[in-house]
Amino acid sequence: MKEKIRALREKTETAMRETETGRALYELKTRFQAELKSIMSGMKDLPKEERPAFGKLINEFKEDMEAQFEARAAVVRQKEMEAKYAAEQIDVTMPGRQYRPGALHPITLVKNQLIDIFSGMGFKVFEGPEIETDYYNFTALNTPKDHPARDMQDTFYLAENLLLRTQTSAGQIRVMEEEKPPIKILSPGRVFRSDDDATHSPMFHQMEGLVVDRGITLCDLQGMLAEFARRMFDASTKVRLRPSYFPFTEPSVEVDLSCSECGGKGCRLCKGTGWIEVLGAGMVNRRVLENCGVDPDEYTGFAFGMGIERIAMLKYGINNIRALFENDVRFLEQFR
Ligand code: DAH
Repeated sequence: MKEKIRALREKTETAMRETETGRALYELKTRFQAELKSIMSGMKDLPKEERPAFGKLINEFKEDMEAQFEARAAVVRQKEMEAKYAAEQIDVTMPGRQYRPGALHPITLVKNQLIDIFSGMGFKVFEGPEIETDYYNFTALNTPKDHPARDMQDTFYLAENLLLRTQTSAGQIRVMEEEKPPIKILSPGRVFRSDDDATHSPMFHQMEGLVVDRGITLCDLQGMLAEFARRMFDASTKVRLRPSYFPFTEPSVEVDLSCSECGGKGCRLCKGTGWIEVLGAGMVNRRVLENCGVDPDEYTGFAFGMGIERIAMLKYGINNIRALFENDVRFLEQFR
């Protein structure tokens, strides 16, 4: 018995000196306790008179080992802390990591500014789907299958009746089907056309506006556009409406702003005319109102659609639309 205790003591003390972690120490202690238990279970085989002395011996042994375990635990804790500090040490003389702050894309900047201006006038934002049905994109907008206006917006068809929308005007129909007048919505988003040159891209962004209520007239449109031009460009910016044609408006207008570059005298930007075309608009065609279940004898409305790239190009003096999509960091950095 004594021999067994001595052997266990020696084995445990040696192993304990080698423990470096709290985990290892814990495992050692568990093993030790199991072996101690098995020694103690041998006590019943001893002659009765030897038992008290053995019990005393075992108790002393147990207490001594427990004290040793505790002392070692303190040492191991200290070692672990030191290792942790060493691993987490930082060299404050090392150069810092460089963070390059990002910035909003100019299209996003202009879109946000447009939303800001129009929401200040009471417009709510509605975002329609980019994949539209033929009905919402064309037919409901008074542009039936054989209409020549479809040609100008020839686009990407996904199926016979599904296409990438060519105009955010599709959103007008969705809103009018859902809501009763008064309606005052703004609908920004991507549109797609088979168009590609210095000022056109197969994907670009539009901002649509729609107002429907009793007694809305073209004068309301003009007044609102004048306010928009002043806020987007500057207080001296003038607005000009020219007669035009869109299937979904009657009358239709094209809207020019006085050239921000020359103030209207004529320059290269405005091709000598003093005016720059920025959007299409008009009074919502009776047929479009009817298609959406709005009574055209009770309600009238105006609508407009502008190209966000167009506005961004004008505002920042960008002469090629591609600069907006190539994502050259040197270009984008200028908008920080
Ligand atoms: N959807 C037209 C286009 O893409 C722009 C437009 C013109 C929108 C007149 C309108 C509008 O809402 O009334 O060229």
